[in-house]
Amino acid sequence: MNMEPIQALPVPRWEGEGYSRIPFWVYTDEALYHRELDRIFYGKHWSYVGLEAEIPHAGDYKRTWVGERSVIVARTDDGSISAVENICAHRGAAFCRERTGNVKEFLCPYHQWTYDLKGNLAGVPFRRGLKKNGEIRGGMPADFKPAEHGLNKLNVAVRNGVIFASFAHDIESLEDYLGPRILPYFDRTFDGRKLKIHGHARQRIPGNWKLMQENIKDPYHVGLLHTWFLMFGLIRGDQKSNILMDAHGRHGAMASTRADTGKGDVSQGLHSFKDDMRLHDERIIDIEREQWWNGPTVVMLTLFPNLIVQQQSNSMSMRQIIPRGTGKFDFVWTHFGFEDDTPDLETRRLRQANMFGPAGYVSADDGEVLEFCQESYDAGDRNRATIAEQGGRDWSDSTHTITENVLRGMYAYWRKLMEV
Ligand SMILES: [Fe+2]
Repeated sequence: MNMEPIQALPVPRWEGEGYSRIPFWVYTDEALYHRELDRIFYGKHWSYVGLEAEIPHAGDYKRTWVGERSVIVARTDDGSISAVENICAHRGAAFCRERTGNVKEFLCPYHQWTYDLKGNLAGVPFRRGLKKNGEIRGGMPADFKPAEHGLNKLNVAVRNGVIFASFAHDIESLEDYLGPRILPYFDRTFDGRKLKIHGHARQRIPGNWKLMQENIKDPYHVGLLHTWFLMFGLIRGDQKSNILMDAHGRHGAMASTRADTGKGDVSQGLHSFKDDMRLHDERIIDIEREQWWNGPTVVMLTLFPNLIVQQQSNSMSMRQIIPRGTGKFDFVWTHFGFEDDTPDLETRRLRQANMFGPAGYVSADDGEVLEFCQESYDAGDRNRATIAEQGGRDWSDSTHTITENVLRGMYAYWRKLMEV
């Protein structure tokens, strides 16, 4: 019997050099997927787990996932943020079942072990047994030390209202992790202003988790797949853009500025372009330029491994990727604005949010094509490869959107990390 853990099992070989021809098995192989969980989600990477505005008061918590592991993120009594694994130290029950709530302490229903908000073990029923008629029944062994049996605590990093966690404690700072090229784009949205949560949307997409990162790292598809964007003038193929990555290639920033002229001539030749299409309610594309944009009308950040930060016109969202096996992932959208938004601006953000989310006029397209891709990866020859060579085979920066460079950047990093 083979007792090797699945992540130690051999994975297929990625034939050839480079990162522009991606084998189908990259999206389907079980052993590889477990290696990804180990090295990426449970390794030395920062995963997004939430916004401070979701848990503003002491005792507020939210339940989320890092990789496939259930994690509780909480605001403690001293105002700091804690993240603990949702596994009772006693019998291992995933005790927290609510999505959000407010508690004084965490309580496992099975045997009522309790933990403070930082995850320290606070109470064990019958720790010293039950005294009856002068006789002590039960009780934990005398050398049982509560201090050694708290919840598994994750490393936490918070920057301007955004919370990241990692199972690794010997990990670089979040700032070093994002790097000097990506950090300014992160700080552009999150500059310390108080955030306001507008709502969440959740969907399960039948595709490998990396496909979602690839999708946002690929601005080339936007003007082709998303007819809505094009038709109503929110993007043009000839937009001035700045597309760049961190030093590893794992994170990407795509900043693009739409000219004020609306529908672009460059769109006319495309299949999908219909000049006579009109919106019943044009307020959804009535956009107010905001000062802090500092130019770009859209900035999409892809932060490895599990976060996309979206600012498209006045709509902003955090999109969290939660892997659920090789062929599916959960996609959690948190739409937000700023506390000091005027009521008019807030209404614009809410209206424009209709473009995004599971049923968004634009985003629904992505979920569907990712499913189309995974269908082939699952059923097709696993050694067949996809082609990501628009704009070349390297992953240098780009000043236009007709490129798959950021996607290649991720695989340059991923291939090294996964040793395939
Ligand atoms: Fe898309």
